[in-house]
Amino acid sequence: MSGLLSTRRGFCCRVSISLAFFLAAPAVLPVVAQQIQRHIETESLDLSPRFLGSDSCATSTCHGNVVGQGPLWNHSLSVYAANDPHATAGRILSREVSPLSESIVVLLDPNAKTSTEAYTQVLQKHCISCHGTVTPDQCDSSNPLKPSVLYEGVSCEACHGGASQWIDDHLNESWIGPSRFLAATGMRDTESIVGRAKNCVRCHVGSRSEDGLVRDMNHDLIAAGHPALRFDLLIYNENLPHHWSSDSEVEENFSASAIRLRKVSRATNLSAAAALSSARASDHLRDVSIPWPELSDYDCFACHQSLTMSRYDVPLMNQVKTMLRVSDGLPIWNTWHSTDQLNLRDSISYLEILSPHRSDPRKVASIGNRIAARYQKLASKIATEAAPDTKTELNRLLALLQKNELQDWHAAAVNLLTLDAIIRDLPDQQRTVLAADVAQLESMLRFDSGDRSSKPPKHSPGGFDPQEYRARVIDILTSRLNPATKAP
Ligand code: HEC
Ligand code: HEC
Ligand code: HEC
Ligand code: HEC
Repeated sequence: MSGLLSTRRGFCCRVSISLAFFLAAPAVLPVVAQQIQRHIETESLDLSPRFLGSDSCATSTCHGNVVGQGPLWNHSLSVYAANDPHATAGRILSREVSPLSESIVVLLDPNAKTSTEAYTQVLQKHCISCHGTVTPDQCDSSNPLKPSVLYEGVSCEACHGGASQWIDDHLNESWIGPSRFLAATGMRDTESIVGRAKNCVRCHVGSRSEDGLVRDMNHDLIAAGHPALRFDLLIYNENLPHHWSSDSEVEENFSASAIRLRKVSRATNLSAAAALSSARASDHLRDVSIPWPELSDYDCFACHQSLTMSRYDVPLMNQVKTMLRVSDGLPIWNTWHSTDQLNLRDSISYLEILSPHRSDPRKVASIGNRIAARYQKLASKIATEAAPDTKTELNRLLALLQKNELQDWHAAAVNLLTLDAIIRDLPDQQRTVLAADVAQLESMLRFDSGDRSSKPPKHSPGGFDPQEYRARVIDILTSRLNPATKAP
């Protein structure tokens, strides 16, 4: 939540963390070092049927050449190993590496404080589906957890698909074009905009039935201290150290339009979140011990004013409406994803079905799936259309702002993301003119100064004034660019 236009941690910080890990591993992290050693000695041959492990990509003639030598595909693995956040995603689950992981795990099961077995079982049940490259049986806590799962983290095959079926074929020169991503090959689409977006949201939004794994960032995990997930393909793709070359035709099309990329990403995110809601509802119908409604499907700020990770306060009911200006106290379903995409706020009957007070799991199971299908279709449609024109998009944004109020922080934040995408697509000169204005808009949205004494508190969007924000955007758009002069 802290940086809207950047991920939580800067990438530079990432690089130094990873380097520090490699340099300091044996001394500072004896357990992990032992695990790595054991993995190298005993586990390299103990392979699951689908995943072959990154060792099989690692030779210097394949993807493990020294960084900078040969074409990028030839040192993809080295780029990844040096500083990709996914390379350490498994290791950060161990308590020796991450105090945050330890505190999350212990809150989920107090026995994990003293029992390694209990700790490992929480990881299998709640964490490794997203932080590892695993099959469902590895998430079954009655099986032992292989150290290689934590060592490998989110490795090559988590994104590219289990290699058992394509490993041989992909050495042939004929292994090009989209047909290699057909379901039968087992290789996942990382190339197309929709394919890549769908690939990432499995973990970055969550999924319940995809490849049989439960990847669920529910309210229990968030309440235990895990960051809530807010994925954006444009930013997250940019923040990964690219282990692929950017001058291919595919990559050029991928990044030709920031507006298009973000639109596809938002539609895919909503689709994934809706599918997850639907699956949660179905799971509850099957097993009533699974909580319902699932609170993480709803607007956090409708119930919470404080959004620092260290402490969340639940406000008194009578403060909800005035402090937050959200839907008269009815938390909005999937608010971050649906803002500006689904007119839930105008459709009271829809809102009621999806609200936590009245939600009927049967109805949510079917509505969620319908919404998921609709937005997946929309994402595919946008991806094949020509890159949207910046002038048209600016005029549209301005016209919408002049016509409608911004209801809350979410609506304003999504508005800024939309503006940010348009600005990225502008010619350099115009972009430079707007840079300072956008920085100012972003600062209006920040609320995590950590100063809990100020009133209204700065660590919650309770003090955010959407109308002030809206007026500022309208002012910037009309004075700087004056796009409305040619608007119909
Ligand atoms: C639905 C997938 C998913 C599940 C389940 C999941 N995580 Fe994560 N986790 C993520 C993603 C994605 C990130 C990166 C968040 C971001 O920056 O957007 C992350 C980040 C983290 C971080 C780094 C946070 C920081 O600020 O440095 C820790 C620690 C962590 N997870 C621990 C856990 C533990 C422990 C569990 C199990 C109790 C768990 N995760 C379960 C997806 C998941
Ligand atoms: C977080 C997801 C993710 C992980 C993990 C990942 N990749 Fe990739 N990989 C991508 C994306 C996205 C692309 C770019 C699109 C494409 O070329 O398919 C890519 C591209 C590639 C390419 C094509 C390079 C080029 O220039 O043509 C190779 C080779 C590759 N990855 C190998 C690996 C190897 C080896 C690993 C493990 C060490 C790995 N990848 C891990 C997402 C991932
Ligand atoms: C198998 C699950 C999985 C998939 C698939 C996946 N990620 Fe991740 N990703 C994670 C986890 C877990 C973390 C947190 C790692 C950590 O903090 O150590 C993460 C972290 C990241 C981060 C760093 C976030 C931060 O706050 O610094 C970026 C950027 C990222 N992922 C981008 C992507 C992109 C782009 C894709 C799709 C091409 C993708 N991921 C696919 C699980 C996944
Ligand atoms: C319908 C109301 C409601 C919604 C919506 C809701 N929460 Fe909660 N939250 C609660 C209640 C009640 C508690 C205290 C009981 C518990 O821990 O489950 C709580 C507890 C928490 C805690 C732990 C607080 C502590 O002091 O231990 C965190 C963190 C949290 N919520 C974050 C979130 C986030 C982030 C979202 C949005 C994704 C969210 N909540 C959505 C009602 C809600």
